[in-house]
Amino acid sequence: MGIVLYGAGRRGKKVEDLLYANGVKIEGFADSKKTGDVECAEGRIYPILGMSEIQGGGHKVIISVADQVANQEITEKLRNHSIDILVIEDVLNRAEDIVEKNRLYVAEYHIREMEDYFTNAENDDCINIFWGKNSLFWSLFQKLNVDKVIELACGRGRHVPHYVERAESVTLVDILEENIEYCRKRFQENRKITYYKNNGYDLHDLPSESYTALFTYDAMVHFEMLDIFNYLKETQRVLKDGGRALFHHSNNSADYRVTFSSGTAGRNYMSKDLFAYLANRAGLKILEQRVIDWGGVKELDCLTLLEKN
Ligand SMILES: C[S@@+](CC[C@H](N)C(=O)[O-])C[C@H]1O[C@@H](n2cnc3c(N)ncnc32)[C@H](O)[C@@H]1O
Repeated sequence: MGIVLYGAGRRGKKVEDLLYANGVKIEGFADSKKTGDVECAEGRIYPILGMSEIQGGGHKVIISVADQVANQEITEKLRNHSIDILVIEDVLNRAEDIVEKNRLYVAEYHIREMEDYFTNAENDDCINIFWGKNSLFWSLFQKLNVDKVIELACGRGRHVPHYVERAESVTLVDILEENIEYCRKRFQENRKITYYKNNGYDLHDLPSESYTALFTYDAMVHFEMLDIFNYLKETQRVLKDGGRALFHHSNNSADYRVTFSSGTAGRNYMSKDLFAYLANRAGLKILEQRVIDWGGVKELDCLTLLEKN
């Protein structure tokens, strides 16, 4: 039994490189449009295997194509052939617990792959998605009292300049030390900002009933649902009475097996209604939920505004 990557294009070769760097060997590729051998980084050569060879070898397959329609077709084909499908998180075996394994992969991806994202994210077009005066994000953000505000999964702090003037104190939280360090340098002149590298699922260093608002943009879409539930319970704990929270999360609930690596645009398993349920069980009141398109995909994401009272 071995691992085969379905898709021998740019994405497939990138996945091979990632697996190789982590000591995970693959048997070869599958690709309905290619024949012959596939050359990967540092001259590593792999065969293209047919469905019968994959089945005969008892191999499992990681789908490594970017196009979601193609991805769906391949998924169905593999399931019809009773071939097991894996996701990248399954084979980067650093943790026993699946949620932890998946969380670590999201974090690690943001170190390895995100240089371009963080550079482009600062340009006006990307910033206007959130802060343009006609954007839904912005109009919901206006409903927060940002006196004492937490920004969860802050990245390199591109949102901070858009609200810091209105806040008395800002707490920036991220799972990555690299991002917290970046923000520390970026905002070193600003005394009202404090920094917290957390564990990826709670806010245990922050005091209870102390904040007027918490928000997160363009990050929670990737998180594991069970981590989101923890964050919601923590949000309930740290907010003052009447405090509000604004979450940008996934609305991708077509297949419960989906993860960050396999979901459309990295959207993990979550929906508008699941999120509402979790918020309710965490003791938070739903004020507003708005399903939105993302990157040309209809209704992929959702914005939820919550209140503690
Ligand atoms: C796509 S970036 C977005 C950053 C920022 N929100 C922005 O819009 O520029 C996602 C961020 O989530 C952080 N992150 C990933 N998993 C996390 C987790 N479980 N808890 C907190 N932060 C996390 C990453 O380190 C990264 O900074």
